[in-house]
Amino acid sequence: MSLEPVITEVQAGQPVPVDNELRGRLVLVTGASGGIGAGCARDLFLHGANLALTYSSNKAPVDALISELQAQDSTRKFSSHKVDMASDEDMTKLFEEMEQIHGHGPDVLISNAGYGKRIPNIVDIPISEWDYTIQVNLRASFVLCKLAVPHMAQQKWGRIILMSSIAAIGGGINGCHYAASKAGLDGMMRNLSLKLAKDGITVNNVAPAMIGETGMIPNAGFLVGTPGDVKNIPVGRLGTPQETANVVTMLCKTGYLTGQSILLSGGLK
Ligand SMILES: NC(=O)c1ccc[n+]([C@@H]2O[C@H](COP(=O)([O-])OP(=O)(O)OC[C@H]3O[C@@H](n4cnc5c(N)ncnc54)[C@H](OP(=O)(O)O)[C@@H]3O)[C@@H](O)[C@H]2O)c1
Repeated sequence: MSLEPVITEVQAGQPVPVDNELRGRLVLVTGASGGIGAGCARDLFLHGANLALTYSSNKAPVDALISELQAQDSTRKFSSHKVDMASDEDMTKLFEEMEQIHGHGPDVLISNAGYGKRIPNIVDIPISEWDYTIQVNLRASFVLCKLAVPHMAQQKWGRIILMSSIAAIGGGINGCHYAASKAGLDGMMRNLSLKLAKDGITVNNVAPAMIGETGMIPNAGFLVGTPGDVKNIPVGRLGTPQETANVVTMLCKTGYLTGQSILLSGGLK
């Protein structure tokens, strides 16, 4: 084995450019039929991105979102895809469709689609529910990253953002099945951030808590009597999809930031 240092491209005098531009880049937002996904899509559109948006059972919100954004800029490219994150076949088809429509895979992956049946107590969590939650929240993000990385690595630029949760650090209103699925994302993110930095790809998480205007938490009334009750949130209100999108966009626009999970919880621990 040689003891000579490995000469990287950087050491060889090819500095890595600062490039945080989103204009013209393809952003894949999964779960864009939901509150946080739609918020992210709108905000990244404002920063010039082309959008590939997924839904699972609710097509209408994605159709409406695309019409709304198309009316603002008809030069932008949009595509909508029906994807069940429990299906490898659907995820593979999603990447084939993006290739056909956009000519390549995503430059930015926002793996946001998620599922969490609220069952606080371990004794009540069916083993099948554990398996399904891990499949949709953790396994699907792995498959999406695996499919997205080759294009990003080839062009030496990419952003991956996984939608975690305060549950990953033990908080929130759900049970250990949901917590484990989100904590798994954290480990995968930290590993990938180290492995992929050399390819110009950053990998981060957003870990929200108590974001209203979503299917998961429609309004504050939904949380009364739970640890997420507004009276327990230090800032005194729910968060919004727009605020979650602000953090996602910041991560996309800050290529020096990688391997981090940003807790967005109004001060909740
Ligand atoms: N709201 C919060 O306070 C909060 C807190 C922490 C983390 N999160 C995370 O934020 C993400 C977005 O959730 P949200 O709050 O915006 O809730 P939401 O409005 O209910 O959105 C959930 C999204 O995930 C999609 N989805 C669910 N199961 C799916 C499956 N099997 N295959 C494909 N897509 C699926 C839904 O698609 P369809 O509607 O088309 O079926 C929808 O687009 C999730 O990962 C969630 O765990 C939310």
